Amino acid sequence: MDIKDIKKIVRDEITESIFQLQDFLLVGNWKMNKTKQEIIDFLNVIVNHDFGEKNSIIVIPSSPYLYLFEEKLRYSKIQYGVQNFYPKDEGAFGCKYAIVGHSERRNIFFECDAFTSKKIKACIENKIIPILCIGEHLEQRKNGEYKKILVDQIREDLSKVSGDELSTVIIAYEPIWAIGTGETASPEQVEETHIFLRNFLIEEYGNEIGNNIPLLYGGSVKPSNIKELALAQSVSGFLIGGASLDAQALIEMSNILDGK
Ligand code: PGA
Repeated sequence: MDIKDIKKIVRDEITESIFQLQDFLLVGNWKMNKTKQEIIDFLNVIVNHDFGEKNSIIVIPSSPYLYLFEEKLRYSKIQYGVQNFYPKDEGAFGCKYAIVGHSERRNIFFECDAFTSKKIKACIENKIIPILCIGEHLEQRKNGEYKKILVDQIREDLSKVSGDELSTVIIAYEPIWAIGTGETASPEQVEETHIFLRNFLIEEYGNEIGNNIPLLYGGSVKPSNIKELALAQSVSGFLIGGASLDAQALIEMSNILDGK
């Protein structure tokens, strides 16, 4: 056997044991996709699938269909959330998660960091876990400005919450150039950025909170690249758009992260 084959076997074994130990968060961001019947069909598939105990699965459909999730997933470990809301007290639907600061809200609806920070605050006050999306444009990646952009977003967006409140926040790093484009950040780029963000969080909010804020990666994640991306250090899970619309792809990605 060639040394390259031996190295590959060892690497695969290590990978499998890492995946058996680490738990991941898989969040499906559906945007405006799927009709009522398509959602029912999807839920019928996933509700009967055993996702195991390790990974957490959260699906974020368009809000008019949340009631289907409430009905169908009542006894399931699969959770669900909302894609958007207005930062006022009344009207929170009974779900646990909300995506905040997605680049499509920032770029298409011109939502700024000041508004995003109000949403984060409203989430915490209403016991909803915010999934705060941050990310840079392609030019900012190319000219090396991206780290400053990411840090500025986190500082401003989290400026209205402090102390223990921060321990309920999830952050998703989503480079804008990789969203819906089919172009994924390379595992090296993801690792470098996630390590940078993890160090920043520790410096800014202390060891305890900084180490525990989950850091997801999002941007063209799919069954064919999720394994490599999951091996990047400091990746706690994924925010997945297109590929999460297919129940079988979601199951496949969860299986891969389960080391199956
Ligand atoms: P994508 O979307 O996986 O289709 O790139 C990710 C997102 O918009 O959160």
